[in-house]
Amino acid sequence: MKKIILSGMRPTGRLHIGHYFGALKNWSALQDEYECFYMSADWHALTSDYADTSHIDENSIEMIADWITAGIDPQKSVLFKQSKVAAHSELFLILSMITPLGWLYRCPTYKEQQNEITNKDLSGYGFLGYPVLQAADILLYKADTVPVGEDQLAHIEFTRELVRRFNNFYGNVLVEPQAKLTKTARVPGIDGRKMSKSYGNSILLGEDEDSLKKKVWDMFTDPQKIKKDDIGHPEGCVVFAFYEIFNSDSLKKKSECKAGSIGCMSCKKEVFEYLIEFMKPLSVKRKEIMADKGYLEKVLNEGNKKANEVSQETMRQIRKALKF
Ligand code: TRP
Repeated sequence: MKKIILSGMRPTGRLHIGHYFGALKNWSALQDEYECFYMSADWHALTSDYADTSHIDENSIEMIADWITAGIDPQKSVLFKQSKVAAHSELFLILSMITPLGWLYRCPTYKEQQNEITNKDLSGYGFLGYPVLQAADILLYKADTVPVGEDQLAHIEFTRELVRRFNNFYGNVLVEPQAKLTKTARVPGIDGRKMSKSYGNSILLGEDEDSLKKKVWDMFTDPQKIKKDDIGHPEGCVVFAFYEIFNSDSLKKKSECKAGSIGCMSCKKEVFEYLIEFMKPLSVKRKEIMADKGYLEKVLNEGNKKANEVSQETMRQIRKALKF
């Protein structure tokens, strides 16, 4: 029996190469060894975007197109939409009965997001319950492994505690999942901050050649290196960070930069070449996928169906354990 993975993302629209190197490359690599369920967490999107839901569904479609572009194979993995699998809401309700409020208030993501996101009112009950819904996502598939970034560790730990509490009350039904931390290169945005759609500093998956070029040309470099023979500081340079992602033998480049024997323009040209080589097949694939809307619909219909079957079986066991 293969081990089981569940992971998901909130549908925020088109993905960028930070998502690729931070998650998707890893998701894709795990597909043969594990039975994988990958989910668009569209109900989770609702916890903060409840006031304007107009883009959520379209964003799911764009995101799933990007997953397939990045190598997630619907023949191997189950791709589905959370809102099409009603069991997520049923288990969310049941788990909410046994979740102490203190656990939720204590969750670091709760306070952080409330401080960070100031343009939305996050005082609602759904937002506080975000980790309960995430626990339901994982537990319905009896996933033992959840590949996530560091920011999600608290939610996995929360899920584990909730499993112990549940099993303690009702018997051994739920499986304690393990987080699988993604070890990845940090991909900075073109301005050196974290790559994020909301900062306008990202490089999209399938970005076309012209805008890719413009973005590489706009990348921040070492501000102290103005002329070609100035001594450079590659550690803080965005172009060098990209160079390292694509070239595992970057030491030579580093010392040339530090010695002032190469200029930033030549580095940008090389990084552009790497990026275009990486991007070209992805752009082609993405265009094909988006041109055939019926294909995505079919993938999701099949994925939703499979997810419903698996989660209903778990719900059957849960109802039985609760004597319902
Ligand atoms: N909270 C996750 C994020 O913001 C998305 C998510 C929802 C998720 N449900 C999940 C991740 C279940 C892993 C498992 O990235």
